[in-house]
Amino acid sequence: MTRLRKKKNISARMRACSAYWFEVPIMNRGSWRQACGMPENTPLYLELGCGKGRFAIETARRNPEICFIALEKEESVILAAIETACEEGLTNLFFLCADVVLLKNYFATDEVDRIYINFCDPWSRKNKPKRRLTYREYLETYKLLLKPDGDIHFKTDDRLLFEFSLAEFEIAGLGIRNVTEDLHASRWNEDNIRTEFEDKFAGQGIAIRRAEAFKRWLL
Ligand SMILES: C[S@@+](CC[C@H](N)C(=O)[O-])C[C@H]1O[C@@H](n2cnc3c(N)ncnc32)[C@H](O)[C@@H]1O
Repeated sequence: MTRLRKKKNISARMRACSAYWFEVPIMNRGSWRQACGMPENTPLYLELGCGKGRFAIETARRNPEICFIALEKEESVILAAIETACEEGLTNLFFLCADVVLLKNYFATDEVDRIYINFCDPWSRKNKPKRRLTYREYLETYKLLLKPDGDIHFKTDDRLLFEFSLAEFEIAGLGIRNVTEDLHASRWNEDNIRTEFEDKFAGQGIAIRRAEAFKRWLL
C-alpha cells in the first residue's frame, strides 16, 4: 500500500514537470533538437546514468548554447533532477527515464555530439563486465550515434573500471586523449563539474580518473 502511494506520488510529481522529460523518447529519434525547441545546429550532449542530475544541471546552466539530454533508468532518482530543472526554468535541459540498453531506439545515427558517462556502476563484485556502460557492445552503439567528430567523456573513481574502459575504447577503435588518474590535481580540474558520486568518493580520499574517447580517430 505504501509502495503504491509512493509510486502514485512520483507519477504526479513527474507529470507536474512534464515539459522537462519525454515519456516516449522513440518518437523523437532523429529530431531531438526540434523536439527540444532548439535550432538544428545546436550541439546535442547526452549523459548516461545521470543520477540526481547535479552534473547535467550545472553543465546546462554554464552552456546555454547546447541541448543537454540526461538519461537515468530509476524514476525515483531522476525525479529530483527533473524538479530542479523545472524550478530553475532551464530551457536547454531535458530528461529521459530510460535504460541505456535501448539507446539505439531513441537516437539516430550521427545525431549526438557528446556522451558523458560519470561514475557508472563498475559491476566488479558481481564480475559482470558486459554490464559496464563502457563495454565494447555499448561503445559500438555510442560510435553509431555520435557524429564523426563526436566524443565520450568518462569519469570514475574505480581504478579497475578505468583500466578496463581504456582497453575497451582501444578495442572499439576509438582514440583516447586527455587522460588523468587524478582529475582534481590535474589541469582539467578548473572546468570540472562535480557529480554527486564524485563528491562522495573524493570525500573518502579516492582519486578521480578521467578520459576522453573520440571518433575522428576512425576516419
Ligand atoms: C553510481 S550512480 C552515478 C550517478 C551520477 N552519474 C553521479 O556521478 O553522481 C549510477 C547511475 O546510473 C544509473 N544507471 C545504471 N545503469 C543504467 C542504465 N543501463 N541505464 C540508465 N541508467 C543507468 C543508476 O540508476 C544510477 O543512478
